[in-house]
Amino acid sequence: MKTIIISIAIGLSAISFNKKNQESTGKEIFEKNCAKCHGKDGTKRLLGAKNLQKSVLTTTENYEIITNGKGKMPSWKEKLSTEQINQVIEYLAVLKQKTKE
Ligand code: HEC
Repeated sequence: MKTIIISIAIGLSAISFNKKNQESTGKEIFEKNCAKCHGKDGTKRLLGAKNLQKSVLTTTENYEIITNGKGKMPSWKEKLSTEQINQVIEYLAVLKQKTKE
């Protein structure tokens, strides 16, 4: 019984560790590549960039814009992998939470 409880505890902490990791990777990608126009919190609007905290796009639309670019928004398909783009999209959701805090 004791072993079962311990292995569940280890399993759970591994899951939360992974989730945290995922979030910080998205954050790193964002701060390295996107923050110069969008700002660290997504609200800077260089070159007419959209306030990402107020953005209402779906994941698919985000994916499309980040991959192919739009107007002055650069295309990232050469610079970021599909996985990195997905991680940065997840981070956009984290940024949106900040408006509600
Ligand atoms: C050179 C400046 C610049 C950089 C760097 C940049 N963007 Fe943008 N971004 C823009 C501009 C300008 C727009 C507005 C495009 C339009 O609608 O004409 C935009 C629009 C967007 C939108 C659409 C928002 C909406 O609601 O319409 C998303 C999502 C986005 N950017 C994400 C990112 C991500 C993620 C990165 C980093 C991988 C990034 N951007 C890097 C300038 C930039």
